[in-house]
Amino acid sequence: MRLDKFICESTSLTRSLAKKALHRGEVCCNGEVVKDSSFKVTPDMHITLDGETLSLIGLRYLMMHKPEGIICSTQDEEYQCVLSLLDIEKPELLHIAGRLDVDTTGLVLITDDGQWSHQITSPKKACGKRYRVTVADPLSPELVAQFAQGVQLNGEDGLTRPAKLEIQSSHEALLTIMEGKYHQVKRMFGAVGNKVVGLHREAVGPLELDADLQPGEWRYLTDAEVEAVRQGRS
Ligand code: URA
Repeated sequence: MRLDKFICESTSLTRSLAKKALHRGEVCCNGEVVKDSSFKVTPDMHITLDGETLSLIGLRYLMMHKPEGIICSTQDEEYQCVLSLLDIEKPELLHIAGRLDVDTTGLVLITDDGQWSHQITSPKKACGKRYRVTVADPLSPELVAQFAQGVQLNGEDGLTRPAKLEIQSSHEALLTIMEGKYHQVKRMFGAVGNKVVGLHREAVGPLELDADLQPGEWRYLTDAEVEAVRQGRS
């Protein structure tokens, strides 16, 4: 990798600021000043900027407990964005693997590994997402079979995929869906004449929201959690 690219990918500097630092003689390779932007960096080299060791930011995998009122997009005029809650280097390289509505709370997975997030978001991978749903009107037991068979959403071709409904109380249920259409859970309950008044995502595929995370808090995934998603476990 070129030295200027290496500096960009290991710091928050832009390419032009990296080049300026190089020209000022602030970058050393194995103790020797290097000013050439196109100098090739190999893994065994020790690179410093102003005496500080640089290392590449590897692929990152995080879970967050999304609070209400925070939006799952990169920019918004009205709401604060999920990525702005992360106090880490280069949050702009990250993306959200499966968005939640602004009023939905719970598990959000964030990464800069597009292949990994594909396991979660691709309709072909059938990754289950479990929601705790609170509704306005009482839940009828027949709904379990209706959701298992699939319901027709406005504007969609065909029924929703079989979903698992577990009724917890008159107004609360767990719903696991294998796809992620726009506002899917709210539209599914709308299709059967009910209204979602509270929505919280508890699990995505093999990953459960960490009970120690308060709304707005996040942590890196463990290697085992990253691998479980990669293996398509659920
Ligand atoms: N379904 C919804 O309707 N909203 C969400 O945020 C997630 C799933």
